[in-house]
This record gives sequence, structure tokens and C-alpha cells, in this order.
Amino acid sequence: EKGNHRHFMEKEIYEQPIVVAQTLGAYVDPLAETISLPPLPFDLAGVKRVQIVACGTALLAGQVATYWLESLARIPVQIENASEFRYRDPVYEPGGLALFISQSGETADTLAALRHAKAGGQHIAAVVNVASSTMAREADLLLPTHAGPEIGVASTKAFTCQLAVLAAFAIALGKAKGRVTPVEEARLVHLLTEIPAAMNEALKTEESIHALALPLSKARDILYIGRGPDYPMALEGALKLKEISYIHAEGYAAGELKHGPIALIDENVPVIVIAPSGPRFEKTVSNMQEVMARGGLVYLLSDAAGLAEHGAGTAATIEMPSVDPFISPLITAIPVQLLAYHVALAKGTDVDQPRNLAKSVTVE
Ligand code: F6R
Repeated sequence: EKGNHRHFMEKEIYEQPIVVAQTLGAYVDPLAETISLPPLPFDLAGVKRVQIVACGTALLAGQVATYWLESLARIPVQIENASEFRYRDPVYEPGGLALFISQSGETADTLAALRHAKAGGQHIAAVVNVASSTMAREADLLLPTHAGPEIGVASTKAFTCQLAVLAAFAIALGKAKGRVTPVEEARLVHLLTEIPAAMNEALKTEESIHALALPLSKARDILYIGRGPDYPMALEGALKLKEISYIHAEGYAAGELKHGPIALIDENVPVIVIAPSGPRFEKTVSNMQEVMARGGLVYLLSDAAGLAEHGAGTAATIEMPSVDPFISPLITAIPVQLLAYHVALAKGTDVDQPRNLAKSVTVE
């Protein structure tokens, strides 16, 4: 049940350090600092490309994973939402791995895409939370998340557990392809083991986020921007906010803003900028400054170093812990979820049962 929490969503946000640790426990040997996958019915070294297919938040977990898979395994990765995938008449080649991501394991479009790819001779891997689900049964390689039952309609803990599995899988694929050395594997595995503690730190942003919720709840439109893996995190922030607060929100690649969406900016439009310190920070900040120059209200989500450098002049800042860029999406997820949750509370919407939505979408 909900315990001390007002909603399942809040409880599930707070469970993340534990369930992510549980999930990682199934893939990581922390002493040897190695990754191990469940028994493989095909040769991972023979995988030549990866096609990711999913819906909604699971799709966005997949979009974060494209960065990990391409950088660690150096093979081409494509991603498509499941409802469109089959309409492309996808080209299947030998050595193709089709990777499906689903909390429920029952989403109709994702399941139909899985069967399509299987009929096309692809190896089928599935990242699934419900172990007894159809996708779990039909996959060649089941990569379970151990998030426990997710009751809130808006996905939170399943998302970060999906990210944890995908990060581990990317390391394993990189190793199999001879791209990740044992030393690099140990470094990356060590970073994975730091996630739960950093998530606990990130939960401390709740108070500062609560303080922003009332003004943000009055906005008609809210934009989220980020670069690299922070771009899918911007999309996830916007999706979460839309679905539980009913405020119109969009996520954009930070550099894409000036190609159109910047026309939306005025003093009434809050822009959530996701910019942890690291290789993309300065470029995202320059996009943030373009927003500020047009009167937009900037809310900067970064770590202490990033905020010290560029927090001035923003409407507000949210300080997340400083972590390695490899694991930062899992940490950023927490303030992003808390923001949607608190804005929805301020609006008084039904957080656990948002209108028009179902937990498992079993029609195409
Ligand atoms: C968003 C959300 C949905 C699901 C999507 C896929 O918070 O919950 O977007 O992520 O319907 O569902 P699964 O993962 O069960 O395939």
C-alpha cells in the first residue's frame, strides 16, 4: 500500500534507489566489477545492429539507451515507436537484434512489433517488468527489471529500472564486441553501483521543487530542453507533466529551439533546462541564454558546479548531485518526476489515475 505517501506515484518515486539497486543486483557483480547477462540463446558478438521499439516512457528509456549502445558497442542503433514501426516495412538483416522495452509486457503495439521482428528473423530481447507477461514469454532473451508492481499510471520506477538494465546491457554488448576493455567495464560497473546513493541525494530536491510548483501550475505551456541523453529526458519531463497535470508541455533538443519553437517564448512560458555539468553543458547554456534574452522564464536543473557557473539570472534553480555523465539520466529522472508530481498536486489533479489514461494499453 501507499505507506506514508500521499500517492502511489510518490511512493514509487521514493522506491527508486531500492528497486534500481535490486535491478542492478541481477546484472552486476560488484566485487568483480563485471556485468553478467542471463543465458544467451544467440551470440552477442554477432549482433550487427540494434532496433529498439517501445511506447511512451519506455520508448524514452530506449532513446537514452541509443547513446550508451552506440558509444560503447559502436554498432548502429535505430529506435522507433511501436505504433509506427511496422508501417515502415522495416528491413531485417541477419545479425539484427530487436530490443523491446515495456513495463507491462502487454502493450499491444509493442507486442505486435515484437512478433513482426521475430517473423523477420531477428533476435528478440525484451526489457520487461512483469515477468509473467506475454513479451517476457515470447522474447529470446528476457532482461527483467525488478521494479516490483507499478501502480501509478505515470511510469516512474519502471523507467529508471529500464535505464539501469539498458546501461548494463550496453556494457555487455560493448564487451562482446571487443569495444569495452575489462578496465573500462570495471569503471562503468563502479559508476552503476553509485546510482542508488546518488538517487537518494536527488530525492532531496523535493523541497525546492515543491516551492516552484505553484507558479509553474499557472503556466499554460511549459517547454523542456536538453542535449544528448538529456534530450530524451526533456521529452520524458514533458510527457510526465502533460499526463498528470494536463499542462501543455513539449520537450525539444536544445539546439533545435531556434529552428522554430523559440517563437513560443515570452515572459509567460517557463522553460526547464536540463543541463548537468559535462561535455554538453556550455552549448545547452547558450541555448538557455537565447531563451532568457527573449524574456523566457528559465528553470535550470544542474549540479552545484553548473549552477555556480550559470545559475544567475534564472527564475529558479534545482540542484542535483554531481555524477558522471554516464549515469546522469537516472539521477535527472528524479527531479523531473518530482516536478511533474508537485505541479499536479498544486493543480489538484488525480495523480495516480489521470484522466483518459490506462496503465496497460492493450489496443493498437
Ligand atoms: C507514461 C506511461 C506510458 C507507458 C506506455 C508503455 O508515464 O506510463 O507512456 O510508458 O504506455 O507502457 P509499457 O511500458 O507497459 O509498454
